[in-house]
Amino acid sequence: MRANYIKKFYGIGIGPGDPQLMTLKALNALKEADVIFAPRSGEDTTSCARAIISKVLKKRKKIVELKFPMTRDKGVLTAYWQKAASKIATALKNGGNAAFVTIGDPLIYSTYIYLLDILRKQFPDIKTVTIPGISAFNAASSRLQIPLVCGNETMAVLPVANNLNKVRKFLKEFDTVVLMKIGSSLNKLIPILKEMKLIKNSILISRVGYPDETIIRDLATMKDMKPGYMSVIIIKRNLPNSLFSKGESLPSRFPLPRRGRGLG
Ligand SMILES: C[S@@+](CC[C@H](N)C(=O)[O-])C[C@H]1O[C@@H](n2cnc3c(N)ncnc32)[C@H](O)[C@@H]1O
Repeated sequence: MRANYIKKFYGIGIGPGDPQLMTLKALNALKEADVIFAPRSGEDTTSCARAIISKVLKKRKKIVELKFPMTRDKGVLTAYWQKAASKIATALKNGGNAAFVTIGDPLIYSTYIYLLDILRKQFPDIKTVTIPGISAFNAASSRLQIPLVCGNETMAVLPVANNLNKVRKFLKEFDTVVLMKIGSSLNKLIPILKEMKLIKNSILISRVGYPDETIIRDLATMKDMKPGYMSVIIIKRNLPNSLFSKGESLPSRFPLPRRGRGLG
């Protein structure tokens, strides 16, 4: 079925959590949207992305939460992506612009990537517009004031979950490695960082930009701690000590309260 869509669908990156890290373009697109779709994991009571945009929206907007379970089962997820894409297409067909908000950048480990793919294949008349956002690792490096890459350096970004062998490989190959989706893998990761003599070159930052943001510079002390879903680790092979060790370290706050898993 092809409908004549004249309205726009915005995929909006709203940044890592601090509303001030949302771009003007993202804000303007939010204002233009008649209905805003926000992802929520099955385990959360509220959508993390919704909480962020509610801090910048002055006018009341129709916000629809779309539930996506926290599973890696592609079969299960596909059904949810399909259902969500159909809901978005119906909203556009019924009139008005629609938006899907996503934490960080919409094209980095985001549900939006799958929605965009379905919409473009099944509803080619929909005009899609993707608005970039500041990714969690950009916010983390600025917060820590350490460069991600300089000169000829190389960088790899990867999710930790089920990827420990790749982590080891990339740590050998790249000057900077950014780890996302750390989850419960920290206990397995720390021995690797110690063995590779990189533990002192690693910094973990959790919930960057939130009031309960936590920075851990001494990862060796983190045994049996769960940093929570919203955490990144930056590992830099070559970094002057002065840059790496400066700043506060707040390990006492772990383990963090379980909340806002923040589906992207
Ligand atoms: C589904 S991915 C979404 C990534 C997002 N699109 C981005 O560009 O940052 C979720 C992962 O992003 C990272 N993340 C998102 N927000 C964060 C925050 N405020 N602080 C630390 N890490 C965050 C964590 O590694 C988390 O496991």
